[in-house]
Amino acid sequence: MSASIPEFYRDRSVFLTGASGFLGKQILEKLLRSCNVRCVYVLVRQKRGKTSEERKDLLLKSEIFADVKMVNPDFGSKIKLISGEMTSPEMGLTEEDKEQLRKEVSVVIHSAASVNFTEKLKDAVSINVIALQQMIRLSKSFPKLESFVHISTAYVHCYKDHTPEVIVKPKHDPNTIIDLVLKESEQRLEELTPKLMHPWPNTYTFSKCLAEWLLHEEADDFPCCIMRPAVIGAAAEEPRRGWVDNFNAASGMMAGVAGGLLNPVYGDPDIVADVVPVDLCANITIALGWSTAVTKPATVPVYNFTSGNLNPVTWGEFEYWLTAYFNRCPLNANTGMTKIVVAKNRFRQVLLDYGVNRMKVIIFDLMLRMSGKKPRLVQLHKRAMKGANVLEYFTTHQWSFETDNVTSFYEKLNAEDRKNFNFDIKQVNWEEYLVHYCKGIKQYAMKEDFKNISQKRKLQRRYSYLC
Ligand SMILES: NC(=O)c1ccc[n+]([C@@H]2O[C@H](COP(=O)([O-])OP(=O)(O)OC[C@H]3O[C@@H](n4cnc5c(N)ncnc54)[C@H](OP(=O)(O)O)[C@@H]3O)[C@@H](O)[C@H]2O)c1
Repeated sequence: MSASIPEFYRDRSVFLTGASGFLGKQILEKLLRSCNVRCVYVLVRQKRGKTSEERKDLLLKSEIFADVKMVNPDFGSKIKLISGEMTSPEMGLTEEDKEQLRKEVSVVIHSAASVNFTEKLKDAVSINVIALQQMIRLSKSFPKLESFVHISTAYVHCYKDHTPEVIVKPKHDPNTIIDLVLKESEQRLEELTPKLMHPWPNTYTFSKCLAEWLLHEEADDFPCCIMRPAVIGAAAEEPRRGWVDNFNAASGMMAGVAGGLLNPVYGDPDIVADVVPVDLCANITIALGWSTAVTKPATVPVYNFTSGNLNPVTWGEFEYWLTAYFNRCPLNANTGMTKIVVAKNRFRQVLLDYGVNRMKVIIFDLMLRMSGKKPRLVQLHKRAMKGANVLEYFTTHQWSFETDNVTSFYEKLNAEDRKNFNFDIKQVNWEEYLVHYCKGIKQYAMKEDFKNISQKRKLQRRYSYLC
């Protein structure tokens, strides 16, 4: 393949959706740090009383950009805001913004989605399917477009044990479902949802599958590809080992366990935890933006970016390293020794959650209130339960994924690109990775320091005797 990845991106402009999200932020950082792009257009919506401008400014303040900022304090000038709401007609973009994108953009990376498994069908289809349709139609009007990378999920066919790297035709045509969600009442859709999405277990995977087929149907001579990550976890190496700034899925469960708020976690310890580091996901995405432009594939290639079949780690191993780390280095917000048990017994899990965990956080919040501090444990428990509930599907099921496209793609990269855009999952040492993941949860997600650790350990032990 001609030209290396940074040479390709040099002076090109990228349009990125989902830049305020976990993966999108990582892609943005890497594009700015390693690709010499002319600029990155980021689509950001207004949310929770903040305008998109305010949200873009907040995004730039994220610690993830510390290295980029050190090299170029004016890095923000390379990030151009496109204010929009992807579920609105024409995504709410102004004519000026659309014109600017048409003039400038060569590569589109579509990462925005709702990752909520229990989203109403209408909302899941609006953001995960209709928004993609709008993105495809808009991108087709870009004269300079060279590639379009769509982020899907490895679990698009999760009702089957094996997932090949091909797009599978869903039971319903995406346009039929789009028409339905636009026409039917909320109540009618609620009634229809289980039947429509069967055999998919949730609206997330169902809508992501429809989206893939839609891309397949609309692709014709459109230069695009699909990247399907498994469960995305903290960064393995870049920009910092263990970087994570949210409590989604695995990270939410881990923070809950670390705080002594979740015990046990429901799942099978022998099942493979198909986790992939976020920096490796960003690297393969950026590399695919380049290779799609260079190779111009005739059909839409699919890349299952998973770890299980190449370098497996189990939830039992997760449990071991998590417990070991947080008993040595407790969270400030802890309610006792970390003693996660990945349990197969649902009754025991529910009993302990209602009988012990919920009572415990109420008592601890009361104690915090009495000592004049802000109560936070009920809130943390809620967040951790949300993460654990999402993760439960993955701690109780195991899949096998074909990964030949990812492996042969990696082998085709030149030595320099392999080093700078590494996505070789076989190189991940899970013990090291999990130790840094735990450290990252404490340092970046919980924003805690590492002072007075021995004191915190004593307190943790004392709490354990109390509860
Ligand atoms: N996280 C995982 O474990 C995982 C696993 C497999 C696949 N994926 C896929 O990876 C991609 C990125 O996921 P993530 O973990 O980064 O998710 P995330 O942290 O929840 O980020 C989602 C992004 O989408 C944006 N978005 C959602 N609805 C929008 C709307 N209506 N208009 C404009 N922007 C909207 C969000 O913007 P706001 O900040 O405004 O909400 C946010 O930037 C998704 O396509 C997801 O399906 C994720």
